[in-house]
Amino acid sequence: MKNIAQLILMLSIILLASCQQKKSDPASIIEQKVDSVLKLMTLEEKIGQMVLYTSDWDITGPTLKKGYLEDIKNGHCGNIFNAHTTAYVHKLQKIAVEESRLGIPLLFGYDVIHGHKTIFPISLGESASWDLVAIENGARVAAIEAAASGLNWTFAPMVDISVDPRWGRVSEGAGEDPFLGSRIAEARVRGFQGKDNNLADTLTLLACVKHFAAYGAPQAGRDYNTVDMSQRVFLDTYLPPYKAAIDAGAMSVMTSFNELDGVPASGSKYLLTDLLRGKLGFKGLVVTDHTSINEMVNHGVADNDAEAGLLAVKAGVDMDMQGEVFFKYLKKQVDDGLVEEKLIDEAVRRVLRVKFMLGLFDDPYKYCNEAREKQLVYAPEHLEAALDMAKKSMVLLKNNNNVLPLKKGEKIAVIGELAASTRDLLGSWKAAGDWDFMKSTLDELKLYNGEKNIFFAEGCKTIGNDRSGFTQAMATARKAEKIVLVIGENWDWSGEAASRTNIKIPGVQTELLEKLKALNKPIIVVLMNGRPLDLTRENELADALLETWYAGTMGGKAITQVLYGEYNPSGKLTMTFPMNVGQIPLYYNAKNTGRPIYLPNDKDKYKSKYIDSPNDPLFPFGYGLSYTTFAYSDIKLSSNELAAKGDLKATVRVTNTGKYDGEEVVQLYVRDLVGSVTRPVKELKGFEKIRLKAGESKVVTFTITPDMLAFHRLDMTYGTEPGDYKLFMGGNSRDVKEAGFKLK
Ligand code: GLC
Repeated sequence: MKNIAQLILMLSIILLASCQQKKSDPASIIEQKVDSVLKLMTLEEKIGQMVLYTSDWDITGPTLKKGYLEDIKNGHCGNIFNAHTTAYVHKLQKIAVEESRLGIPLLFGYDVIHGHKTIFPISLGESASWDLVAIENGARVAAIEAAASGLNWTFAPMVDISVDPRWGRVSEGAGEDPFLGSRIAEARVRGFQGKDNNLADTLTLLACVKHFAAYGAPQAGRDYNTVDMSQRVFLDTYLPPYKAAIDAGAMSVMTSFNELDGVPASGSKYLLTDLLRGKLGFKGLVVTDHTSINEMVNHGVADNDAEAGLLAVKAGVDMDMQGEVFFKYLKKQVDDGLVEEKLIDEAVRRVLRVKFMLGLFDDPYKYCNEAREKQLVYAPEHLEAALDMAKKSMVLLKNNNNVLPLKKGEKIAVIGELAASTRDLLGSWKAAGDWDFMKSTLDELKLYNGEKNIFFAEGCKTIGNDRSGFTQAMATARKAEKIVLVIGENWDWSGEAASRTNIKIPGVQTELLEKLKALNKPIIVVLMNGRPLDLTRENELADALLETWYAGTMGGKAITQVLYGEYNPSGKLTMTFPMNVGQIPLYYNAKNTGRPIYLPNDKDKYKSKYIDSPNDPLFPFGYGLSYTTFAYSDIKLSSNELAAKGDLKATVRVTNTGKYDGEEVVQLYVRDLVGSVTRPVKELKGFEKIRLKAGESKVVTFTITPDMLAFHRLDMTYGTEPGDYKLFMGGNSRDVKEAGFKLK
């Protein structure tokens, strides 16, 4: 039995909507319904829709901070995050819908970043698959499981470009490149919101593009630190993935903690109104990051929370995550004439619009179907998708003498704490993932190769200086033909608030590798980490290096299948791996400078280089090996001139010259040789992942159009400039074939 409040609300929506004889297209109908609800709301109830509070989970299960239940009942809190399971969501929704005066349903948000229960590889790992279909499917699976668990909003995709592996949150993004980052942002929005952005579908989630903006460029790679960059770098490098996600239909955006050009994002009218809503045409809601309104006092742009709240609402913020600022101060500020109620109405309209689009007013309990939750969570096809993505995300960095793949029946010593870990496989932001549900890498290796052929020793912890396990590890290794050493970072060494000044493998893990090397047995190093690391020493010692990131619920099985060649690794790095931390920021799409070094051993002292290190990365952007090899023909161009309104075709023949079937990511880069401003030495403009049987060839064609060459020119207008260009194609950003053309 719906309560009286709900009936009043529904009747008024129907009555007002029907008497407003406007067009009946869905958008207009929603606007009419929004208006009809807004008219019924008190100022306090309006402000309640601008409030987002966290649920808490303690050992007894879901709990709400004291008072929040009252706030929901009084219409003072219209949105909750970190609450999930259909039972718990239903409980809270029931209070909002049946006990508050107007019965306005709650939004339920959660950080479903790379899976909800079935966890996929961390986002940086997923990006290394360069497989947009698989990436979209990963987000689709996450949305299905999250929506089936009562949620209707995810705080994803995180699309922050970053060129600094000291920053732990590179683990959540798609690497350093704006073109790839934009394509992946689009794929993730499609996955979360559904291909046609039908938010009313009970198995889609409202996506939330974050963190707006340029959060990935904190000075010194230190989380929450100052971001300061030219407008041109912001518009050409950092903005594109946010724009791509919004163009793909994302209906919420989260502001970032950082300042940009001296203004904290949550108080930036330029970012949230002029750029986001004005230039990008964003129609959804803007939510702040956790207490980022309050933090404007620390930033030094507001004397107190109330003043910070005024800055935020006037900048264009619609919802205050956990700051309790709007809740405490906004009503009085309206009463005192410091902010007009119509500004509040605009914010509340955007929140209500999303709730109508989700269908929450039609059926507030639509996400609370317990039977569907049981049926969809950990569905076999979801686990299969996670396994598929985990394998595709892995990057083979070295494979001397084809020590990989392993052969079944070989005696293998598996060494390292991470080999036996399941929690670390889930990485950071694991949402509702259960690590006791899954198997470790060691478990899977034993299942595959037989208990009697796998010998394990922890050797040492991932962190700390305890070497007491070395002896046992050496003894274990002596019994084996080959050694699989699993090393890296613990899951919480990347993600939020996990910046490092040193990006080497922590603890004494590399010392253990040094010791094992003395046994003169083939050593395969399996890496688990959430950021590019300085692997210079490990690369010298290991016979093979396999980057597996944090590979998720099915990660152990995926690592096993890759090590034994059940799957031929195809991943390519989406972030540069430097030789050392001193080179950072180091990225492929850099400028040439006035003193570039030309030869590998350019002896001229007065060049842009170091006296103590090469300039080159250890592993460049786009790099990744296979168990087979690929050869590239010279590039053929349909013309060496590109007309201002024309296009040209660039083709290359790729041949699988090895003995394994495999996949290759053919990459297309372009260079504008002379511009009104300096231009990068390469820019990714296309890629295609192809599958080739051993000995097979395929011609890959890219169509080049002038719009691909546009940038913010000297006068800050966006467009192209005629002149000479180079074009590159290859299996990474360094080893490429090149050709030239002229843009007319
Ligand atoms: C965190 C993160 C943000 C996340 C939010 C809610 O501080 O910065 O990415 O979505 O809080 O958990």
